[in-house]
Amino acid sequence: MNAKTYKKLIAKQLNQDFKFAVEIVEFPIPKPAASEVLIKNKFAGVNGGFDTLLCRGDVPYVNLTPPFDLGVEVVGEVVAVGENVQDFQVSDAVVTTNRGGGYREYQVVNANLAFKVREVTPEVLTLMPTGVSALVALEQVGEMKSNEVVLVTAAAGGTGHIAVQLAKLAGNHVIGTCSSEAKANLLKEFGCDRIINYRTENLNQILKQEYPNGINLIFDCVGKQVFDTCVENLAVRGRLVVVGFISEYAKDVEQITQPRIYHQLFWKAASVRGFLMPHYKEYMPEARDRLLNLFYTGKLKVAVDPNHFQGIESIPAAVEYLLSGQNCGKVVVRL
Ligand SMILES: NC(=O)c1ccc[n+]([C@@H]2O[C@H](COP(=O)([O-])OP(=O)(O)OC[C@H]3O[C@@H](n4cnc5c(N)ncnc54)[C@H](OP(=O)(O)O)[C@@H]3O)[C@@H](O)[C@H]2O)c1
Repeated sequence: MNAKTYKKLIAKQLNQDFKFAVEIVEFPIPKPAASEVLIKNKFAGVNGGFDTLLCRGDVPYVNLTPPFDLGVEVVGEVVAVGENVQDFQVSDAVVTTNRGGGYREYQVVNANLAFKVREVTPEVLTLMPTGVSALVALEQVGEMKSNEVVLVTAAAGGTGHIAVQLAKLAGNHVIGTCSSEAKANLLKEFGCDRIINYRTENLNQILKQEYPNGINLIFDCVGKQVFDTCVENLAVRGRLVVVGFISEYAKDVEQITQPRIYHQLFWKAASVRGFLMPHYKEYMPEARDRLLNLFYTGKLKVAVDPNHFQGIESIPAAVEYLLSGQNCGKVVVRL
């Protein structure tokens, strides 16, 4: 290992705009303590929504004060192990999913926070923790069943494309929304039954015309008017899982005045449920193992966005790209 220093991206101040909140800093590469491993990060998953909210100071459950580290999931290679570490050796391919461990070239972590994978490829970043979130949200919060109608919004995105396939594998009719022909083609490949390009078709009209009995389970990543349409089209005993509201992350929260939401839910005995992965941590290991198994046995396909971002310097552009809504699959930065 020739390098002596490494770069990482930190939030130096809170700012509404991610790129004005961050800066690159350089540090000596640390040595692992007895129970730690040193990992050379190779690919980082980009969670542009979460990154932006963190840098705006809008993530109440962490409530960080700058400076703080950024990034979550990475796949990389073990380059040194502490003297008490037994389960890892140099050149092992590993994934870590710790907040603050992602947007950096090297990291030392306690060995029990690293997870071995077959190889250092960006594809595994679609599964951990993104795919895990999709699985837990559908099953634990959405109480996913079979033979129901499931709607996934932002269906061709990092989280959505896994949710679509999991809902299909469970035996449901799956509707997916997206904004381009390229995304629609991807969703076709993933077996989505009804693909709605919301730029060329009206989501509310289609749901009302083609699904007059309503939607049983909705996995909403988008929010705003899409959320309103989803609530309006819930079936009797339908469940809407609020996975995110990306259409509002980089904007001020819209103030609305309308009758309280129970007027829409009560008569259908429907429900709206929030999902946040950190509050469902205990489901992570089983979900991760199941997803990896589905992936390695070819039952689950994964999509990494073809746009190549290279280096720590490219992270603000990658975040902006994700928030622009152009991405197809998981956005990844090569470090
Ligand atoms: N609750 C949790 O624990 C958890 C965990 C992971 C992810 N999430 C949430 O899941 C959602 C997806 O995250 P991701 O990282 O996988 O991103 P992503 O889906 O890969 O990318 C975001 C997608 O959102 C869609 N979108 C729709 N309206 C948008 C708008 N106004 N502005 C920007 N994008 C818009 C775009 O696709 P189309 O235009 O094709 O719809 C875009 O490609 C986010 O809301 C995120 O916060 C939540």
